[in-house]
Amino acid sequence: MPTAVVTGASRGIGRAIARMLAIEGYDLCLAARSHDELDRLSDELLEVSSRIDVATFGLDVTDAVQVRATARAIGDHLGAVDVLIVNAGIGAFGAMADFDLDTFDRLFAVNVRGVMLTLQAFTPALQAAGSGLAVVVSSDVSTRVFPGGGPYCATKHAVRALARTYQQEHPELRVLELRPGATDTFFADTDEGDAGPGHLTADEVAAALRGVLRLPVHVRPEELVVRSTAQTPEF
Ligand SMILES: NC(=O)c1ccc[n+]([C@@H]2O[C@H](COP(=O)([O-])OP(=O)(O)OC[C@H]3O[C@@H](n4cnc5c(N)ncnc54)[C@H](OP(=O)(O)O)[C@@H]3O)[C@@H](O)[C@H]2O)c1
Repeated sequence: MPTAVVTGASRGIGRAIARMLAIEGYDLCLAARSHDELDRLSDELLEVSSRIDVATFGLDVTDAVQVRATARAIGDHLGAVDVLIVNAGIGAFGAMADFDLDTFDRLFAVNVRGVMLTLQAFTPALQAAGSGLAVVVSSDVSTRVFPGGGPYCATKHAVRALARTYQQEHPELRVLELRPGATDTFFADTDEGDAGPGHLTADEVAAALRGVLRLPVHVRPEELVVRSTAQTPEF
């Protein structure tokens, strides 16, 4: 059985990716702060695919001690991690002029420090898999900005830099920067289903990733941008 870890698996894109991986037959370790929600998801996934193993971990990705302990526990449980989905993240938007600095710090703690800690902690488990794949969920805004998006875009530019540097420092691994456009999730205090037309669904993002995961392991997928046709093309 291939193995995968998903951070931020309790809802939104992470949850949809976890469901896709379960259907693809991966043994799963799911992490997020909402442990009860993960346990509900685990029951749901085992109904979808009874042949897989699902373990859940309450985890705050900003806490270095927790991240390292969870990575050790997952390493012991799975042995090796074929696919690591570095997905946990938050959104907050507003003009820079009066952007709340506690929110600014929180954005960087979850979106940047959390990614750094997760990649550091899971490197041995990815290496144990041979050519393990780290999927770092950034955003289509990891190369652009917009008014009201300064702090969030800055975190995603930073995530892109971390993902690319990590790939160069670990050529034995594969690192994919997954860059979804606007997606209908619980992101930035929204409710799934509220976003309306013009947004991708989380399942559509997961379906795009599924195609990449089916590639042979000698293929190095470096970047996947997936956006609704309602968004202005970037090229
Ligand atoms: N929605 C979009 O338009 C969009 C577009 C491009 C990229 N993205 C990126 O996609 C990723 C997932 O976002 P989403 O849209 O699916 O949002 P979401 O529905 O709000 O889900 C966010 C997930 O991250 C987890 N999380 C948040 N803070 C955490 C922490 N400190 N420690 C551990 N887990 C934490 C949440 O779980 P708990 O609250 O249970 O911890 C939840 O499972 C993020 O990195 C986001 O930046 C989103």
